[in-house]
Amino acid sequence: MIRAWSKKNVLNFMRDRLSDYTFVVVSNRQPYIHKMFRGKIECTRGPGGVVTALDPIMRELRGLWVCCGSGEADRLVAKNSKVRVPSNDPSYEVKYIWLNKEENIGYYYGYSNQGLWPLSHLVFMKPSFSNEHWKVYKQVNKKFAQSIYNEIKGKKAIVFVQDYHLALVSKYLKEMLPQVTTLLFWHIPWPTYDVFRILPQRQELLAGLLSYDTLGFQIRYFCNNFFDAVANEMEAKINKEHQSVHYKGHETFVRGYPISVDFEGINSVSGEEQVKTLASSLKEEFGLQDKKIIIGLDRIDYTKGIIERIKAVDKLLDMHPELKEKVVFVQMGEISRIHLSQYKHLNESVNTLVEEVNFKHSRKYWKPIIFLRRHLDFKEVLAFYKIADVCVVSSLHDGMNLVAKEFISVKSEKEGVLVLSKFTGASRELKNALLINPYHIEETSNVIFKALNMPEAERKKYRKQLQQLVHRNDIWKWIGKIASGIVQEE
Ligand code: G6P
Repeated sequence: MIRAWSKKNVLNFMRDRLSDYTFVVVSNRQPYIHKMFRGKIECTRGPGGVVTALDPIMRELRGLWVCCGSGEADRLVAKNSKVRVPSNDPSYEVKYIWLNKEENIGYYYGYSNQGLWPLSHLVFMKPSFSNEHWKVYKQVNKKFAQSIYNEIKGKKAIVFVQDYHLALVSKYLKEMLPQVTTLLFWHIPWPTYDVFRILPQRQELLAGLLSYDTLGFQIRYFCNNFFDAVANEMEAKINKEHQSVHYKGHETFVRGYPISVDFEGINSVSGEEQVKTLASSLKEEFGLQDKKIIIGLDRIDYTKGIIERIKAVDKLLDMHPELKEKVVFVQMGEISRIHLSQYKHLNESVNTLVEEVNFKHSRKYWKPIIFLRRHLDFKEVLAFYKIADVCVVSSLHDGMNLVAKEFISVKSEKEGVLVLSKFTGASRELKNALLINPYHIEETSNVIFKALNMPEAERKKYRKQLQQLVHRNDIWKWIGKIASGIVQEE
């Protein structure tokens, strides 16, 4: 099958049509983190959807990625703040921005993650905003712009900025380089106007966003929410036919581009001998050989519905005690934003709940929940996806959720079933997954039970349909559509 948006076609198109441009990706989070481990420097991939999606693209395009350096060994490996990554197969260059404590508190922990993150996710977590955080947020956005400017002055460049941390980068960059092409992809939901209107700095934030040439959102619905915000707050003209906004003589295109994963890459690596061997050793290490395996994989974040998922497993064992000793739930969790009290409390609550559920249901040589906090490398994660009977994605609200798409992309040993929250962007595409309302614990537990008992033929059928969908709408199509948008709008 030749796909119009195949990796090869998309890369040829980009290399052909955009070859005069320097391609710069910008994000807060770094794609690779260098840390000291037993006296040696280790280079591991960073957490979260931004990195999952963009790393395969950058490995092919070999551009420049500007981001914050936060690993304790980042400064050791970088020369003039730059390093090629990943260390075992250097493919593209990373340029670090170094933030001091005050900047980290105001920009990252404060305005981005106590303000914009809870504002954008409808999970009943109150956002908080302060003028001081806003001031530092702007300062750091300016710092990013200055650093990008130093790299691209005198060149033609496309600056592709990621996420809510960097809404104002284009504004500051264009003050220095008016002709530069800038795009921002907002990876998380964009709230409805009723929610957005509580943001004290909403007009300044919108003005910053409207200095980008293109704004991308995960789904149409978020684009419409954005248009509502502009209509209510700005002296701007919305052109629904062009899907664009005219503001102060500049046109910003607003598009829905559902993000995805590198289906073929994941599928092929998951079939490698090394991943099969890892899968067997994980089964042995955790005593999973003769068990049905349910998995969950998240950053420990209150948007992910981890508590709800554990409660659903508890309910499952209450309702079906016959599953005891036959089922194990493995929750993998990477810690982030731990200096915020909401995250600290969530970590403690998850620990307590896991302990309670394990104590309640455990038998002599068996406990229902294994909670893995250690860092898992990409191949270990693929090995877990491979051996799972069921993967539960129970986000309370999520822009897309790439765990769901990664899980579907692997060569599964057991035709694993995806149980997916209705409140993820992914559920709009993956309609053949078993959908849940994660707030409804009984429903989730019933659906997990159904997934565990689905006959093989049915599992195969669903999985095949889902694989076709993820394959057709993979990360190459995402970047291909964005790139062809740039060419058209030039
Ligand atoms: C989400 C955000 C990303 C962020 C990731 C990890 O996926 O959309 O922008 O990088 O979480 O969060 P962290 O705060 O650890 O970078």
